[in-house]
Amino acid sequence: MYSYSLTLDTSPEALGRTTSNSNSDAYYNGAAAGEDGGGGIDFRKLLELRTRPIPIPIAPIRTTLDERSLSEIISSGLASPRPPRTLESVKSSECLEGLLSPSIRSSAGTPRDHPSFEPHPMIADAWEALRRSLVYFRAQPVGTIAAMDPSEESLNYNQVFVRDFVPSALAFLMNGEPDIVKNFLLKTLRLQSIEKRIDCFTLGEGVMPASFKVLHDPLRKTDTMIADFGESAIGRVAPVDSGFWWIILLRAYTKSTGDHSLADMADCQRGMRLILELCLSDGFDTFPTLLCADGCCMVDRRMGIYGYPIEIQSLFFMALRSAKSLLKPGEGIQLLERIDKRLHALSFHMRAYFWLDHTQLNNIYRYKTEEYSHTAVNKFNVIPDSIPNWVFDFMPIKGGYFIGNVSPARMDFRWFAIGNCMAILSSLATPEQSSAIMDLFEERWEELVGEMPLKVSYPALEGNEWRIVTGCDPKNTRWSYHNAGSWPVLLWMLTAACIKTGRPQIARRAIEQIEKRLSKDGWPEYYDGKLGRYIGKQARKFQTWSIAGYLVAKMMLEDPSHLGMIGLEEDKKMTKTCLTRSASWTV
Ligand code: GLC
Repeated sequence: MYSYSLTLDTSPEALGRTTSNSNSDAYYNGAAAGEDGGGGIDFRKLLELRTRPIPIPIAPIRTTLDERSLSEIISSGLASPRPPRTLESVKSSECLEGLLSPSIRSSAGTPRDHPSFEPHPMIADAWEALRRSLVYFRAQPVGTIAAMDPSEESLNYNQVFVRDFVPSALAFLMNGEPDIVKNFLLKTLRLQSIEKRIDCFTLGEGVMPASFKVLHDPLRKTDTMIADFGESAIGRVAPVDSGFWWIILLRAYTKSTGDHSLADMADCQRGMRLILELCLSDGFDTFPTLLCADGCCMVDRRMGIYGYPIEIQSLFFMALRSAKSLLKPGEGIQLLERIDKRLHALSFHMRAYFWLDHTQLNNIYRYKTEEYSHTAVNKFNVIPDSIPNWVFDFMPIKGGYFIGNVSPARMDFRWFAIGNCMAILSSLATPEQSSAIMDLFEERWEELVGEMPLKVSYPALEGNEWRIVTGCDPKNTRWSYHNAGSWPVLLWMLTAACIKTGRPQIARRAIEQIEKRLSKDGWPEYYDGKLGRYIGKQARKFQTWSIAGYLVAKMMLEDPSHLGMIGLEEDKKMTKTCLTRSASWTV
């Protein structure tokens, strides 16, 4: 095992050395710029709005999200009120444009004072626990530790994981505390620039760490950061998701604070470019999806997700769209063109080949095989006999989802939470597909949500299949951990997806369920069982992202304008793409 230790100089001076040349103001206020190419959101408008004082809304009677019209929600946070609209219109691009995160108006203190909001007793506990998890580097907070469970051996849970920090970061941004997020983004950026080697092999320059830890030397009074790029992870796999989350978080920070100077820094622009080079480089691919090793994302152990896992494809899409809005045209112009092409191809591929609903399942069931040539309907030569029995019972007439994986002669029909929720948030899913995913939640509540939101995947692999696919992994036995276990952290993504699709009642139901147990159980990492009724057999307590995920869900539901930092509206150009499955070769 190699570990990379360094004493970092991440002072603004060190990192911003080239910033003064970046002419950020000129760019964002200039005539040629100001458009968020990723989400169609006009940054100039955003900046204008950000600089005006924004009043804290005072609602005389506590109303629910259903009762409040979206225009009320938006105009309460913005200077120019809009005509009344129903909550449904949250789906429209115009509305997402208005959904600016209001952290700028938040007051200090924990949790943020909010007159219209009766805080649940769990909220104060959660904030306290979240603050306890802060990790400092040279007296500055730079992240949150994965878990603070005193009763268990810490293993690598004493580290700051990039993906685990995302809900913490969103909670801090929503609470008007962006500094920790900025520190985190800058520190991980420095870690990216380290040479990464496993045995005799050097990893790509753009790879972001899965996690890092800070070692304090009280005698020498130095702090040291040690990063893990996969060289000490189970299975030695590099995290493909870390770089994507980094870009997504950079956009969330920019959107929430209105501060473009961070993303404009030459180092941040370079960091983004390096991440993108890794996944946009030419190779032997015939698909626009990203080919990955097993365990390269949230599911970080062998679980049969090698190939083109949905989680990575959704994050890839979201990161591409986020980068599009953050990259400065000048030197990045060619990259922007490549991003556009990839986004187009990726959305077509995903919407056409990963999408499964009752009709599509029936089509696959009737597929002919061995079709050769461009006219083939069954493009990947999937043998209908390989469709697992459970999916026929699981698939409702109303509803659908993006399946786990599609590659030659293989469709993994499992449902995965992150991939589907992020597909909604990034608008990789069409509006129709997004509502079908929400329909599936309602139709299959017991299976996907059960007693503890939310299953990471469905269904569990059992028996011989479990043996072969997981390599007999004792942590991933059926209905446990990554193998269809229930992860409270996923609540924030579900809530965001509910708000984006105008279905807040679904999130409210899930939150009510979580509030019955999560704090009493000591904020476990995951739950086991078909219904998620049992605290996971090896679950850590005081798992930070379970805590932060709850806070983010609550804050979003209370103030849906937070969605702006993590949601992207539909790109109309992509919607126009013809989705005739057999016509993809027709020019
Ligand atoms: C587990 C999870 C992984 C997470 C880590 C720290 O390994 O699978 O996604 O980042 O714990 O919480």
